[in-house]
Amino acid sequence: MAEFTESRHGMWSNRWLFILAATGSAVGLGNIWKFPYITGENGGGAFVLIYLICIAVIGIPIMLAEVTIGRMGRLSPYGTMLSLGQKFGGTKYWSILGGVGAVTGITILSFYAVIGGWVLYYVFRLLLGEFNGADSEFVEGAFTSFVGSWWQVAGWFTLFMVITTSIVARGVEKGLEIAVKWTMPFLFILLLVVLVYGIFEGGFGRAVSFMFTVDFSVLKPSSILEAMGHAFFTLSLGMGAIMIYGAYVPSDVSLRGTVYIVAAADTVVALVAGLAVFSIAYAYSLDPAGGVGLLFQTTTLAFGNLPLGSFFGFLFFLTVSFATLTSAISLTEPIITWIVEATNASRARVSILIGIVVWVLGLGSVFSFNIWSDFHLVEGKTIFDFLDYLTQAWLFPVGGLLIGIFAGFFLPKSALGEQWGISEGWKLTIWTLLIGVVAPICVLIVFAGEIGVISLVAE
Ligand code: PHE
Repeated sequence: MAEFTESRHGMWSNRWLFILAATGSAVGLGNIWKFPYITGENGGGAFVLIYLICIAVIGIPIMLAEVTIGRMGRLSPYGTMLSLGQKFGGTKYWSILGGVGAVTGITILSFYAVIGGWVLYYVFRLLLGEFNGADSEFVEGAFTSFVGSWWQVAGWFTLFMVITTSIVARGVEKGLEIAVKWTMPFLFILLLVVLVYGIFEGGFGRAVSFMFTVDFSVLKPSSILEAMGHAFFTLSLGMGAIMIYGAYVPSDVSLRGTVYIVAAADTVVALVAGLAVFSIAYAYSLDPAGGVGLLFQTTTLAFGNLPLGSFFGFLFFLTVSFATLTSAISLTEPIITWIVEATNASRARVSILIGIVVWVLGLGSVFSFNIWSDFHLVEGKTIFDFLDYLTQAWLFPVGGLLIGIFAGFFLPKSALGEQWGISEGWKLTIWTLLIGVVAPICVLIVFAGEIGVISLVAE
């Protein structure tokens, strides 16, 4: 359905820009902060293996489905699902998927931006050279006392939201290219610096064996769901971010090639971040299962003890903050485009409104680490933990599952072939099956395992 050749919200001028933007969305805190600490909490190798399988079998097909739907609809995810749903699915209810995704996006941003604030705080502290010569005790203390102070966390979170909102208000294309093109390579090099330092300090061997020795006996029952949810999270799938970026892709760009590049870049950054973080953790006897502070504690140890470390550390957190920002921007895009379409209000106004809503929501996560740390919404989960779990483990995969089914079963095969530049034949059939059947079934199996259906049947 190539009725629209352009999106009213803007267009990428070429394929490269789309790859940069999608990579900017995908590579973020999920890779650098979250992947290492959840790998640590879930025992290492077996978790990593499941995550990698999910990227290949579920992530890549669903990402292709999302960009394809986006480009066919050329509207906000809500508008796209409404129009394609009515045309090919026979009902307007597919739009719910777009709507829920948009709300999921700002829910995520409400806690994502809190961690974004932590990153900004570390930029500042490294600039002041405060980690020079630090030992494990010092970095642990520094982290704990910072997150324990509600007003400091709130302040840096507020700054992060102000920056995000002012960029989003101006429109996404401008700036994104420069931000991603310059920061990604630097970020990668600085991760390698941490890694090389870890190799010299002697933690690398244990890090490799922790991450790549597969021992299923250490896996927690919930780990499989967490690994799958993280595969969605890290590739920005299941809530419309990649769909709206797909809406800006020119009609003549090959979609399949771009999806491989984005998924590969995302995975490599995560693996290198994991190796770097664990090398330092082992070298300095920090607990790999130490949780949300792991990235901050290990990297400040490394930079605190490297020659010119403060400077490199400052650059490191600066590049991480850019990576966080480019992901944060994409989290707001589905809801902003939706409201702009529905109300015709200016993008700037809508962005500010959304910024305020996210800020208010985010206070719940800010306080989860200090004054409300004993307040549990459900079974031992703070507001932060709960939002993280709900969105990553359930909302993303359900969104992705439905996106796959919609693309695989309701969109005409000929239209898909046209989008992917392949004519009828086995290739088209295989891709359609991967998207519409294989990926959704895998998601369902993981859900069934989590809910306990599989063990019930086995009994
Ligand atoms: N993929 C981002 C990360 O790994 C997070 C994100 C999720 C961004 C969903 C947009 C949409 O940090």
